[in-house]
Amino acid sequence: MSASAHPPSNRVPASLAIETDVNLKPYNTFALPAVARRLVRIREAADVRRVVDHPELGRAPKFVLGGGSNLVLTKDIDAVVLKVEIAGIRLLEARDDAWIVEAGAGVVWHDLVCWTLDQGYPGLENMALIPGTVGAAPVQNIGAYGIELKDRLEAVEVMDLVTGRPALLPAQVCRFGYRDSVFKHGDFGGLAGKSVITKVRLRLPRPWRPVLGYLEIERKMAETGIAAPDARQIFDWICAVRRAKLPDPAVIGNAGSFFKNPVVTAEQCKDIIGRDPGIVHYPMPDGSVKLAAGWMIDACGWKGKAVGGAAVYEKQALVLVNKADARGAEVVTLARAIQESVYGRFGIRLEPEPVVV
Ligand code: EPU
Repeated sequence: MSASAHPPSNRVPASLAIETDVNLKPYNTFALPAVARRLVRIREAADVRRVVDHPELGRAPKFVLGGGSNLVLTKDIDAVVLKVEIAGIRLLEARDDAWIVEAGAGVVWHDLVCWTLDQGYPGLENMALIPGTVGAAPVQNIGAYGIELKDRLEAVEVMDLVTGRPALLPAQVCRFGYRDSVFKHGDFGGLAGKSVITKVRLRLPRPWRPVLGYLEIERKMAETGIAAPDARQIFDWICAVRRAKLPDPAVIGNAGSFFKNPVVTAEQCKDIIGRDPGIVHYPMPDGSVKLAAGWMIDACGWKGKAVGGAAVYEKQALVLVNKADARGAEVVTLARAIQESVYGRFGIRLEPEPVVV
């Protein structure tokens, strides 16, 4: 490439610091030990361009690290770790039908939920306290208590890891599914490993309408006698429900639900109910049925069981925790044993939610 096509002054900006042998334990919510040989902090979208243009880093394999909330690290990482730390939240547009809010990928998801409520832009309250960052939210299509990210997503801003160019992806092209998106897959046109999410735009519908109907919310409504809760009330209830049954990653390492809830056909479900009448299941709009993986794991007697430092959480069998200095391999061994036992009893293969590296 000629010097004029690529001015040297743009190629190695002083601001791009490469850290070596970085301990990743504080950077994954499971608190698993692993080392990044090289790590670069992405503090603005232009940093991705700087990485792409860098003489050493440009061609090296990359590993994008968000809040590390959906990750099981089993080994050190040789690829260049791009740790996304892009900050900032702002109201982009106040439309008649929605508030459009933009947040940097490095913002803590729960901080965004709190900010929107404080500013008077409700709509994210059912997704309070989900661990992780804003940039990780579309990857997983995070969801809880009747709302998924896709229901509130306007667009995702990404930087291409080969060209260093930005693109704004509208929600329709993100191929959102249950805990799934175009960002989770590298094949069939997927974007995993090919781009970095730098900003996320949310669409918070006006007028606000509460999303109720979930058993735990209905229980709170009955207990308190509040029939028409506002967004702040729902937020408080969700925080209380989650704190009661899900472990706080700041106290005990975990990655939320470890397995997806499997979806089966109505016939398969009938068959399973015939054998296990108590199984918790939810009919889906398309006729399929979602089974509660936590119930199945619990029914197989896994609550509290451990492999080394990795254990099944006592209050919610779908959550695996780092009880005492667990290694990633122990988490994986425990997960496999659970998968085998659930398959043996129910004939269902559980699929892990987090990415295993
Ligand atoms: N259950 C048991 N024993 C257990 C765990 C669950 O019997 O040990 C039963 C519960 O009593 C309940 C049913 O299984 O009847 C479902 O449990 P829960 O309501 O706790 O929800 P979940 O299916 O385990 C899903 C999401 C969560 C989300 C909640 C609330 C998945 C994989 N998980 O959990 O998301 O917060 O619903 O919407 O879809 C996450 O993805 O990391 C996550 C925490």
